[in-house]
Amino acid sequence: MKTYASFCIQYLVCAAFCISVAWRGCGASQVVTMRESSLEAVRGDSVLLPCSFFTSSDFSRLNVIWTLAPSSSPGSPVQVIVFDHGQVIKNPSLIGRVDFTGLPFSADIMLNETRVSDGGIYRCMVNNPPDTADPGVGELLLSVLEPPSLPVCEWDGASDVGGSVRLSCSVEEGVPTPEIRWEKVNPEEISLPINMEGELSGSVQIVNVSSQTSGLYRCSAANVLGTENCYINLAIYNSGPPGVLPGVLLTLVMALVLLALLVIILWLHRTGQDGRSRRRRDRKAEEEECYNEIRYTPSLMKRSFV
Ligand SMILES: *[C@@H]1O[C@H](CO)[C@@H](O)[C@H](O)[C@H]1NC(C)=O
Ligand SMILES: *[C@@H]1O[C@H](CO)[C@@H](O)[C@H](O)[C@H]1NC(C)=O
Repeated sequence: MKTYASFCIQYLVCAAFCISVAWRGCGASQVVTMRESSLEAVRGDSVLLPCSFFTSSDFSRLNVIWTLAPSSSPGSPVQVIVFDHGQVIKNPSLIGRVDFTGLPFSADIMLNETRVSDGGIYRCMVNNPPDTADPGVGELLLSVLEPPSLPVCEWDGASDVGGSVRLSCSVEEGVPTPEIRWEKVNPEEISLPINMEGELSGSVQIVNVSSQTSGLYRCSAANVLGTENCYINLAIYNSGPPGVLPGVLLTLVMALVLLALLVIILWLHRTGQDGRSRRRRDRKAEEEECYNEIRYTPSLMKRSFV
């Protein structure tokens, strides 16, 4: 009953379509209506690609072919899914994600877990012999949108006063193409002029930097689905004329090394003297002891009581 109703609706849709475009020979061919000429889906969502047709024959020889001319390579269309001789054949790369939803009364397909690469022009071809040999064809454009990915902020250049610094930002993903902007956000908020390098990266050149250039910079990548930011904290040091600081540091390090050497030499010298004098003292004591064994002097007694 339900299928009969949907058949009737399709017949009405077809009739309306035929009248509106004054299609000749409507009753003899498979008229295909897409119900939508373009669709948008967010990456990961499911989308129903509609394709209705009218036929005056039964469905025993119904043949449906869906093809996709991907946005990335419109010149090389691929088969998506086919219904032929009662069998469904799917593109191996789409198995598990695509299926017919209303066969044989409609050629609608459902595409699950959509990817950006699914975007492009879909064609639905319906042939139902013995209706005329010309298949009915309809097409629709599918766009799969995705939010921007996290952009990557980088900087290079000289962060000494008077130097020049380049801030660059690039984003990998996002449909529609994210818009890239650079702003200084701290201590005050200023929007910066950006040089685009391709569609997905942009840089800002800051010349003659000074301590006022220091602060927090933000790159944002935005499209209709959202905004992602990355930041660079730029610190410009007031280091005096370039070259002076390294010179001072080098002198300081060399002085320290010399000082350390001096200390080591002195210490070695002292321990050497100590060793020699101790040995000399020991020898003297031995001599004394030998001597004192015989002489038994009070000096030995004194030492043995210590
Ligand atoms: C797509 O998703 C719908 C609803 O979640 C489900 O009913 C259908 O079986 C799925 N199709 C495929 C081919 O996995
Ligand atoms: C660089 O900036 C300083 C002050 O911040 C200014 O005196 C100097 O003229 C500037 N130099 C150039 C080349 O613009």
